[in-house]
Amino acid sequence: MRLTLPSRKTNIKLFAAALALLSTNMIACKSSMEEDLAPANQQEATASNSQMATYASSTVNFVPNETLKSSFNIPIGIAIVKERLDDPIYGSMVAREFNSLSSESDMKFGGMHPEKDKWTFTKADAIVAFAQKNNMRVHGHTLIWAKDSVQPAWIKNFQGDTAAWDNLLKTHIQTVLARYKGKIVSWDVINEPVADNGALVDNIWLRKLGEDYIYKAFKYAQEADPSVKLFINDYGQEFGGKKMTTLLGLVTKARAQGIRIDGFGFQAHTVMRIDPVKFYNNFKRTADAGLLVHLSELDISVRYQQGDTFALTTEIANQQAATWKGIVKAYLTAVPKAQQFGITTWGASDKDSFFNKGYKNADHDYPLLFDNNYNPKPAYKGMIEAGKGL
Ligand code: XIL
Repeated sequence: MRLTLPSRKTNIKLFAAALALLSTNMIACKSSMEEDLAPANQQEATASNSQMATYASSTVNFVPNETLKSSFNIPIGIAIVKERLDDPIYGSMVAREFNSLSSESDMKFGGMHPEKDKWTFTKADAIVAFAQKNNMRVHGHTLIWAKDSVQPAWIKNFQGDTAAWDNLLKTHIQTVLARYKGKIVSWDVINEPVADNGALVDNIWLRKLGEDYIYKAFKYAQEADPSVKLFINDYGQEFGGKKMTTLLGLVTKARAQGIRIDGFGFQAHTVMRIDPVKFYNNFKRTADAGLLVHLSELDISVRYQQGDTFALTTEIANQQAATWKGIVKAYLTAVPKAQQFGITTWGASDKDSFFNKGYKNADHDYPLLFDNNYNPKPAYKGMIEAGKGL
């Protein structure tokens, strides 16, 4: 049985309504995004009665021979966790719908290099093997994360002079790139290096090596595998501002030293009320700087003004679909085809979303394309429509 989706006209109306809603809510969109993503107990539960009709009654079904990846002519990716691949339902869905893989955490510094002389490649290897078996691209995430709290203990405790820290950076990057040469085609070399105010994020690598840690990381990666595409990955570029200026400045400074930064990953952990025009403008700015653009961690929180638990209503699911479609369309129109590195969503099922981690209830938010049973949501349909130019 196939359930009828809202017509295109209805979708346009919904999109227009969402945009109208956005325009009345434009004040401090950024701070409201932070509010959206804050733990629920900091918010008031204000779900209206009209939102009480649950989305469950309007499940979107798969269409035979139509998938996410078949609806686009660029790579369509998903971030996975190795253990989930052991679930055959999950594994077959990933292989059917996507042709690019990122890893949520298995390729991070601590995941692969938990002690100075200890390397743990088992999970990363399994992800690469799964990708090879299913003709999927692998994007590496991430070599260096500019955040103290995510460093493995041995890095936090390491004692050494500048040369020793430099050697540590080089060894990590070159060991990983050598192992996956020809298998992982691209890497987020640095993750989240710039704060919202445009300053470089204070983290152990900056303190030990200065701003040079960024250029050195790219240089070492480039030396290890000249063919690999190298990215800075960050969040919030859609708001432009000082953060974007600094990020683009890093590229200019790298180029002046003959160091290549190939592209920006826009994480796009975003909210339903975001205006896709913000994405459009900053995708364009990035593309105009000659960079590849990866929509690298897309998901859309819907929990603004909701309580600790709430059902996903048809209304919210459709609004989320409109925003999803709007962002993907913005990407496809702002970025020239040759610079479209791909679109990656940060997980598959709402139940697995990292947005739901650390909160009281596992069904706390509904940020992804598939529901808890891996049924496609309206956002899935919205993404397919964007890919088909509908
Ligand atoms: C998150 C993972 O999804 C979680 O499973 C993990 O516990 C913490 O990291 N930006 C990033 C990602 O670049 O690496 C983060 O992934 C989500 C935010």
